[in-house]
Amino acid sequence: MRIVNDIAVALATYLEEDTSDVVMNLASPPRPEMGDVAFPCFRLAKRFRKSPHDIANNLKKHFEADECSDTVELLTKIDRIETAGGYLNFFIRRDFLAQSIMRESIESGGRPGKSCEGEGKTVIVEYSSPNIAKPFHVGHGFSTFLGEAIANLYEYAGYKVERFNHLGDYGTQFGKLIVAWKLWGDIDALEASPIDELTRIYVKFHDVAETKPELEDEARAAFGRLEQGGKEETTLWQRFRDVSLREFNRIYERVGIHFDNTNGESFYSPLIAAVVDELEKKNLLVESDGAHVVNLEEFDLNPCLILKSDGSTIYASRDIASIFYRRREYNFDRNIYVVGIPQKNHFNQVFAVVEKMGFPNPESNVHVAFGTVKFADGAFSTRTGNVIILEDLLDTSVAKTRAIIETNNPTMEPSEIDGIAEKIGVGAVRYTFLRNGRERDIVFSWDDVLDFEGDSAPYLLYTVTRCVSLERKAPESLLERADNISDGELGLLVSDEEQELLKEISRFPHSVLSAREAHEPSVIMRQIMAIARSFNTFYHNAQILRAENEALGAARLVLAQAVGRTISAGLRIAGIEPVEKM
Ligand code: ARG
Repeated sequence: MRIVNDIAVALATYLEEDTSDVVMNLASPPRPEMGDVAFPCFRLAKRFRKSPHDIANNLKKHFEADECSDTVELLTKIDRIETAGGYLNFFIRRDFLAQSIMRESIESGGRPGKSCEGEGKTVIVEYSSPNIAKPFHVGHGFSTFLGEAIANLYEYAGYKVERFNHLGDYGTQFGKLIVAWKLWGDIDALEASPIDELTRIYVKFHDVAETKPELEDEARAAFGRLEQGGKEETTLWQRFRDVSLREFNRIYERVGIHFDNTNGESFYSPLIAAVVDELEKKNLLVESDGAHVVNLEEFDLNPCLILKSDGSTIYASRDIASIFYRRREYNFDRNIYVVGIPQKNHFNQVFAVVEKMGFPNPESNVHVAFGTVKFADGAFSTRTGNVIILEDLLDTSVAKTRAIIETNNPTMEPSEIDGIAEKIGVGAVRYTFLRNGRERDIVFSWDDVLDFEGDSAPYLLYTVTRCVSLERKAPESLLERADNISDGELGLLVSDEEQELLKEISRFPHSVLSAREAHEPSVIMRQIMAIARSFNTFYHNAQILRAENEALGAARLVLAQAVGRTISAGLRIAGIEPVEKM
């Protein structure tokens, strides 16, 4: 809100401080009876050799006696200033607060809190990164939905975002798959259900290798030939890759996610030689039991393995090569990896190695970690042991949503129900991945995920449809008045509930900023949930379309539009598209 800045300007003059420092110290009080903006005076006690309480009182006197025209004008917008326990509390005039929050919302053009902070800067966000020939499980789902939200957040702030999918398409397991395929592969099964067939032969390989360990040697040899570009191995590997990608792309299509760069680990393999040369040139490569490592004691980390004793490359070396490639090709300002907590050490090592190699601003490489996905008892029965496949989770969510929508709307066309259930069911899963701090584990329970009155996407989506349907039902004259709302009319939104709701709406832009800085979309999810809760209380207690008079009705309708606009903006950042009805 602009007025917050105006208050800061005045305070900064009295205190001879920078306005931005004062702004940083301003707080928004937890309860309305404590005012709308609070300035804590504790940190000033030392400087002025006075108690915070006295400082607050002095500042209040300064304010009220100030004859500077800006302050005089500011004071017309302030109802009163109070001091309490070392705080200076400003009570903004309710009509003014309503006008200024609503104007800001209307002017945001459906993108509240957007900014151009990132103009001219490039951010790589790497996420999803599933492994070829393996099921796309819920852990990759976490990365996929969290990563997409983070990419959206950067875009919202004007950054150029490059969405990367670092496919796990290389490594010794492909040697095993090649051997297994030649022994037991079934071409029809591969075409019908690629990941199932590849999983089947991979599991079988391990079973059989228990009694025939020579299979392991064959697998190593096969991977060696693959790394050398052997024809037969490359063809098979390519085929496994193609069929797996077909499955993954089906999921990405379904959830509306598109990547700009899908170079897998295999792409980086040929680039490792140059990294090894560079490491040797800089004397960073040390031999250890036949393998080659980089020591990282000064980072308090274990040595990073670069080349195995048989000369083959590993996961970490491909990541190191990838950082240099990204830097060369994209000249990024930030390079973000949305990958689970268990890989923290891996990324610490990779970032430390490139730092030792002289990578400019190494802090631009960031690992954004997240927790694990668990299921409440009985919430899910799996088709493949303990791995839960994302598609199964989405299908179940959509089916359960469909049943609810069908019950609630007995006359709706089945095809329409299908469309709505798909959006809400998928949205409900996405929201569940984003609603809590990302490093916390998620415990899935359908009662929570699909609780239409709880902390869920359906509740938020339902709130948006409520706002939309108000507009649909409003008479023409009211709509017109809302479209041309005056400051005087906006100033009618002065009830406790309206003011509470307005303040929740006004906190949205800041939540966007904090979410981006902390790579925590949950901050936005919590804020739109607070808006929804506050709106629904207001909605139950106040007449909107049948308000005491048309002016108030129009103002309330505009308030409802602001709610719809703000919650929708938050949902879209989360990758959840609002529905018109449900
Ligand atoms: N494919 C890996 C896995 O499923 C994740 C890759 C993470 N990204 C990276 N650049 N290492 O565990």
